[in-house]
Amino acid sequence: MPYYSDEILDELRNRNDIVEVVSSYVQLRQRGGRYVGLCPFHREKTPSFTVSADMQMFHCFGCGAGGNVIGFIMRIENLGFVDAVKRLAERARIELPEDTGRGNAGQAKLKEALYAINQKAARFFHAKLMSDEGGEARNYLYERRVTGRTVKRFGLGFAPAGWASLCAYLKEEGHSDSEIERSGLALKRDNGFADKFRNRLMFPIIDAQSRVVGFGGRVMGQGEPKYLNSPDTPVFNKSRNLFALNYARKAKTPELIVVEGYMDALALFQAGFENVSATLGTAMNREHCRIINQYFRGKTVILLFDSDSAGEAAALRVLPIMAQQNIPVKVLRIRGAKDPDEFLVKYGPDAFAKELTGAKSPTQFKLDLARVKYPNLDNEALVAYLNEAAYVVAAVDDPIERDVYITALSQETGVSAEAIRGRAESKTAPPLDFEHSEYRNKPQNIKGVPEGVLSASRNVLYWMASHINFYEAIRDNLSADEFPLPVYQSLAREIIKIRDAGRPAGPGELTGKFENLTDQQYVSLVFASVFPYNNDDEIKNALNQQIKIIKTNYINRMIEESKTNNDYELLQKWGETQRNLPNSYI
Ligand code: UTP
Ligand code: MN
Repeated sequence: MPYYSDEILDELRNRNDIVEVVSSYVQLRQRGGRYVGLCPFHREKTPSFTVSADMQMFHCFGCGAGGNVIGFIMRIENLGFVDAVKRLAERARIELPEDTGRGNAGQAKLKEALYAINQKAARFFHAKLMSDEGGEARNYLYERRVTGRTVKRFGLGFAPAGWASLCAYLKEEGHSDSEIERSGLALKRDNGFADKFRNRLMFPIIDAQSRVVGFGGRVMGQGEPKYLNSPDTPVFNKSRNLFALNYARKAKTPELIVVEGYMDALALFQAGFENVSATLGTAMNREHCRIINQYFRGKTVILLFDSDSAGEAAALRVLPIMAQQNIPVKVLRIRGAKDPDEFLVKYGPDAFAKELTGAKSPTQFKLDLARVKYPNLDNEALVAYLNEAAYVVAAVDDPIERDVYITALSQETGVSAEAIRGRAESKTAPPLDFEHSEYRNKPQNIKGVPEGVLSASRNVLYWMASHINFYEAIRDNLSADEFPLPVYQSLAREIIKIRDAGRPAGPGELTGKFENLTDQQYVSLVFASVFPYNNDDEIKNALNQQIKIIKTNYINRMIEESKTNNDYELLQKWGETQRNLPNSYI
């Protein structure tokens, strides 16, 4: 991948004004210092998509999409970072540094070589699995109830524990060092290559044209990381491939089941549900939807994600994209097991077939999620539940469908349909607060970080970036490590780097430090969620409270860690730090 310097990226952003760029896709109206329009990334009737010229950022209060101009092009044109940069460079007539052979004969030749290498690697791994060396792996498969037939059909394999056995084989086969390196199957070491996959059970990933393009490798038993995946290469991208797609295409069912794990796809296939594909360790996204539209047009997708909050959040996030691309979809929350594989082991295929018929419409799925938040419907909970339900129902376009849900809600709660309808009508626009949009679009990795800590972090980061006096006070009192998410820790470090170099830390530049769209979204939230304070004293007060919230959360994490490690000395130390936390920092 070509590398672009900060200078080039700066120039790119300066010469591509975000308001102009967005305007060629979205009709924008000026409102105050911002521009608003209908969000191109989810369906809406009232504009909650905002673009700030000052900050050179976009943010949608409805679906949570946000970022700088590069992120916008990545999303709207479905491009990777590099291609989005190229697109914007063309637009602004900026010359980019040499990019070695894309689309030329050299690239085509490289791809051919990579397909060949992957194919040979798959055969190599499969042969190893069947050989003496593969005993433990075969045993593991046996314990996981994977049959010999499934092993053959999926071409499963075993990567031996040796240091570079695959690399040695590929060299013997006449592949050059550079090809082997580009295949992602080798890691470069000082003294040559090491195999990337060692002592792992191997799942070949096969594209729609039946070519092996990459691998997933599972440790057998416990160990970290549980799965390793091929890195992105000229023939493989995690978002543009699905596991078992080649078989799912051939299935003659009206549905496509999408699951989260290799093992889930295997287990379903083996149980006779051959219309199954799995995402490859990334949440389902726009690219996956495009593939589905390409190969499964007209089929109903059944999202069958793990029965945890991450699985639910992943479903919630992809539903608007699927609606936008007109993909019929249902959501199945599996009960009594953590994932489909476990379900099949516990209850068998017949029970699973029955579950499948219970897949819910997106609206019903969202209503169910709202409902489980209120186990006891006392009066207070009832009001809160119906409020949330009203948002869900308000988003339904079809008037008949809307009425069906309103009637059901009325029957469920005993509250009149008129009252519920009234509430739904008053809620046609998503509210302009972030609690709500975050609930609907919780990005992936908010694992157990309370919303209060996240919003405190966003505010503190905002003032660090935006106000030189606050910056220094915050920097001296709060370290980057204390922020709750890796992306906010990196953001704090970037702000410190830029500020300490004597420059103001603008949102455009900061977002540019993050190539991943989810990270960009987190960063854009920082700049979109500024609280309306009246004066510096109010800000100071808020900052003091928020810093304490962040520190308390950090200390709690440290305390948990000390407990896990049975480190009582450290536990004492953190306990003391917690008791002595000051109230004022700035
Ligand atoms: P799971 O942890 O749910 O694994 O991850 P699984 O597929 O159910 O496998 P078993 O049953 O524990 O053996 C779901 C998917 O997320 C990706 C893989 O694609 C996996 O199938 N993943 C998971 C990774 O890429 N890396 C990891 O370390 C873990
Ligand atoms: Mn599993």
